[in-house]
Amino acid sequence: MYSSIKLIKRKVSKIKTIDFDNFSFGSVFTDHMFECDFIDNEWINPVIKPYEKIELEPSASVFHYGQAVFEGMKAYKDEEDNVWLFRPDQNFFRINKSSERLAIPKFPKDIFFDALKKLVDLERDWIKKGEGKSLYIRPFVIANQYAIQASPSSNYKFMIICAPATLYYTKKLKVLIADKYSRAASGGVGYAKAAGNYAGQFFPTKLAKKQGFDQIIWTDSNEHKYLEEAGTMNVFFRINDSLVTAPITDTILDGVTRKSIIQIANDMGINVIIKKISTNQLIDSAKKGDLKEIFGAGTAAVVSEIEGFQYKDQYFELSHIDNSYAKILKDELVGIQTNSRPDIHNWRFKI
Ligand SMILES: Cc1ncc(COP(=O)(O)O)c(C=O)c1O
Repeated sequence: MYSSIKLIKRKVSKIKTIDFDNFSFGSVFTDHMFECDFIDNEWINPVIKPYEKIELEPSASVFHYGQAVFEGMKAYKDEEDNVWLFRPDQNFFRINKSSERLAIPKFPKDIFFDALKKLVDLERDWIKKGEGKSLYIRPFVIANQYAIQASPSSNYKFMIICAPATLYYTKKLKVLIADKYSRAASGGVGYAKAAGNYAGQFFPTKLAKKQGFDQIIWTDSNEHKYLEEAGTMNVFFRINDSLVTAPITDTILDGVTRKSIIQIANDMGINVIIKKISTNQLIDSAKKGDLKEIFGAGTAAVVSEIEGFQYKDQYFELSHIDNSYAKILKDELVGIQTNSRPDIHNWRFKI
């Protein structure tokens, strides 16, 4: 049974070799990582050790059948150098929900939180202060039975790695509404953070980027009619003074940022409508001048404003507005995350 996490510290930190003002999101990793193995029906050998290569045989099932899930969360530093996580219980819940869908054994809560606290504490010098600065935390699980059999693996590796984070998008986005490709199908794995969901998006997103778009707004796979999410973000539409977002279904990831934005908007008295919205309705609203804003919400990208969208051959540009909901909601969210605004819902978690 689980007792405690073994700690093997790196002798010399790499931190002095990093230029914190000049790197791209997710390209630099901290000194340590967490690792825990599932063998003989048990999660065993939890260890925090220097970030290093892992060894896997070529037959490891993750390479062949994509049995892998992950999470994305952040740690923030406040003005007094306290370190905070934001709603980590949500990520713990979601990784196990994803695991269940991919036939991966659930990970124990006590090891998850112990690992997270110890690892983030150890890496606190890597968390910088300032706009968009934080530590991105990536828990993930891979299947590593050495057998090319299309069935659930008997062995798994649960790991956590950390990367100093900067702004994900530095400008407003142009998006393309999907009318051919789909991200997720009903009955599938869209609601899980399954690795393959992302691989499936790369090709259509590459085509969209070639046409000058930053992201795709995915639509339902049956009719390509209803708007679902934008890349790795949930998506919000401001129509006049109401904020509209799609309900969570099995094709949409239940984003922590999305649910926090909905709560903050409610707290501020903004009318939030959770309902399916079709491309035709969006275009009608844009033509009438009722569509004031579109923005994406996610851990990595925080709140990212969308300046225009294309559907088939028509491009719609949104006019700039002062005091956008995107800005007001982002400032409040980031304020809560970085301990500069009151946390009335107890979302912050101190390290
Ligand atoms: C497909 C998808 N939708 C939405 C989100 C936003 O979720 P969260 O706010 O929990 O980061 C993410 C990012 O995790 C994602 O990958």
